[in-house]
Amino acid sequence: MKVSIIGMGYVGLSNAVLLSLKNNVVCHDIDTSKLDCINKRISPIKDSLISSYFKNKKLRLTTSECIDKEMSKSDFIIISTPTDFDTQKKTFNTSSIDVILKKLNSLKSTACIIIKSTLPIGYTKKVNSLYKKLKIYFSPEFLREGKALYDNLYPSRIIVGGKDKGAKKFANLLKKSSLKKNIKILFMDSSEAESVKLFSNSYLAARISFFNELDSFSISNSFDSKQLIDGICSDPRIGNGYNNPSFGYGGYCLPKDTKQLEASFDSIPNSMIKSLNKSNQLRKKCIVDDLLKTKVKNIGIYQLAMKKGSDNFRHSSIIDIIKLLKNKGKNIYVHEPLITNQSKIYGCTLINDFDLFVKKVNLIVTNRLSSRLKKVSKRIYTRDIYGEN
Ligand SMILES: NC(=O)c1ccc[n+]([C@@H]2O[C@H](COP(=O)([O-])OP(=O)(O)OC[C@H]3O[C@@H](n4cnc5c(N)ncnc54)[C@H](O)[C@@H]3O)[C@@H](O)[C@H]2O)c1
Repeated sequence: MKVSIIGMGYVGLSNAVLLSLKNNVVCHDIDTSKLDCINKRISPIKDSLISSYFKNKKLRLTTSECIDKEMSKSDFIIISTPTDFDTQKKTFNTSSIDVILKKLNSLKSTACIIIKSTLPIGYTKKVNSLYKKLKIYFSPEFLREGKALYDNLYPSRIIVGGKDKGAKKFANLLKKSSLKKNIKILFMDSSEAESVKLFSNSYLAARISFFNELDSFSISNSFDSKQLIDGICSDPRIGNGYNNPSFGYGGYCLPKDTKQLEASFDSIPNSMIKSLNKSNQLRKKCIVDDLLKTKVKNIGIYQLAMKKGSDNFRHSSIIDIIKLLKNKGKNIYVHEPLITNQSKIYGCTLINDFDLFVKKVNLIVTNRLSSRLKKVSKRIYTRDIYGEN
């Protein structure tokens, strides 16, 4: 099969590597530096399995700097460009996808076009009726950053919005490239598939918020949160995992997807969905109030990324915490080795020499513990109990 993939971020690149094991894959991105990396078999994102596949596997992977006639005739075209939440319009900004579909329509594309970007509910139906000659499907992506290729090799499920031959062919393409046996494959209406994605991420946000509110309750009552969580999660109906308190959910997807779902409810009565964002903001305030009790002046922030092993800090909860602490007159110093070309971030001094950083500050605030922090453990502030993401 010939597969073209547009947008070489976490979603696009991991799918490109996965599918190029058995198919001819062409990668396109407006950022040509990413294409240069791919041509040199260097991963533009941090994902140890992608780096290892680049080094050790024979991948049928090429790049193209434009969307051309040749590409439009691929068997499949996967779109994985950004859909940020537009706070003014209260919906995802789908312009990157709109432009690509317009181009594919002008090229009279015969491909099965699969959108993997997260969408507002009803988008796929709308563009299929706008471009009657294109075959456009939505297939939600469930990968985790840092484990993107692994999650595609061993998918929790494959979902395609569509029930026709094209939808089945695409599900089969993913299935054939994965290493997992007996993968659950679900076909549904495109709007239902779009809903599955938004509700899945909102469930995760709700679960994080639940254990964070439990932890806020423990802080107020001087309880040991671990005792509560271990007791509660021993019930198999509740289950372990995804219950480690944090400074709030963040990252690229959860904050924007919960906002999109809230907007989709519109006039449909709900209280849980619309409370997720509020709960997350309250959690950050609770953390800041707790930190202010310590009365220390010089506070160090150990890394900005949400998760261990992450190579970005898009919408990290710690960013709001920094801003709130600064408003309270605290001196904030940040240790973030991901930033190499600047000396300040959010108006705070960056100190990337770890020894200098720990000397400069009285308290080190970290969302997730790290073995590197062991020698300063008496000066750490965290709500991480289980040492996992
Ligand atoms: N990151 C995740 O964990 C994850 C998981 C599931 C779903 N998603 C969804 O998938 C989509 C992509 O996410 P991501 O994390 O891979 O994004 P990303 O920001 O890492 O990558 C997007 C890429 O698209 C490129 N791009 C932007 N506009 C373009 C255009 N017009 N033409 C070609 N390339 C263009 C950018 O240069 C960038 O390389 C989003 O809708 C996101 O919500 C992300």
